[in-house]
Formats: sequence, C-alpha cells, structure tokens
Amino acid sequence: MKYFFLNGFYLFQKMFMLDLKSSSADGSSSSEILEEPSIVAFCCMYCAYAAADMAGSMRLSYPTNVKIVLVPCTGRVDELHILRAFEKGADGVYVAGCEEGSCHFESGNLRAKRRVARLKLLLQEIGLEPERVEMFHISASQGGLFAKVARKMTEKIGRLGVLRWNKV
Ligand code: FES
Repeated sequence: MKYFFLNGFYLFQKMFMLDLKSSSADGSSSSEILEEPSIVAFCCMYCAYAAADMAGSMRLSYPTNVKIVLVPCTGRVDELHILRAFEKGADGVYVAGCEEGSCHFESGNLRAKRRVARLKLLLQEIGLEPERVEMFHISASQGGLFAKVARKMTEKIGRLGVLRWNKV
C-alpha cells in the first residue's frame, strides 16, 4: 500500500511541474482574490453530504465552486484520490467526515485525518501550501457548519491563489 502511494506520488511529481508562483504572487496583494478557486470536497454520505443537503434545505448559500464527491466513508479516501483531484485542476481539496467517535466504520474518519496530515507534509515537500488540503468533521445536522466550511475554504484558497500547472 505504501509503495503504491509513493509510486503514485512519484508519478504525480514527474507528470506535472508546479509553477510555484500562484496568482497571488504576481505582485498583487495577498488578501486579494483574483480568480475563483476550484475546490473538491470529499464528503461522507452519513454526515457531511447530509449536512450539504441540510444547508440546501435551509437555503444557506455556499460557493458553487465547491464540487462535492460523495463517498461511503472518508476512510475510503486515499491520498491518490486527493492528488488526482489536484491533477485534474483543483486548487484546494478537503475531506469532510463524521465527528470523531461517530464514524459508521469505526475509524474511517481517523484514518482520513492521518492521510490528510501526511499529504500536508507531501504538499510542502513539492512547494505547495499545506493549507490547500484540510480535514473537517461535520455531523449530518450541521448544515450551517457545512456552508461555513465551504465559504472559509473558498476564501482561504482564493487568497493562496489558483494553481498553475505546466505539463512537462
Ligand atoms: Fe462518516 Fe466514516 S462513516 S466518516
């Protein structure tokens, strides 16, 4: 498993060369959002996805640039899934799972949390801001929190700037 991940990460590094200058480094103010970032949210069907539904039924708005990927449990979200999201054009990715102690598969959310922590280190190694990947715990009844997290991530990634990929 570790070999598979490292091999995938190696390929990821080889296939793409990062332009370390994000749009915010083009001389503009760091708080200025120049371009709408693309964000992928891996949401557990038992909690965060239901919270997104609730946010909708409560008529709480959240940014449309957040693309939700439904997963049966965040424990199924592998590092490669997240890297693939970046490869496909995401500027930020977050994983939203059940609250600690509430995962329907016991420890899936804790595994996801550890994977996200590892990925932060890897992003840093290749010159990307580790804040581009995050883990959140959102229960099914927290529609408001879901909308808030989506807005906060959009603001934060917008400040970091969209990624520019140069294919080798
Ligand atoms: Fe929700 Fe595992 S079932 S994170």
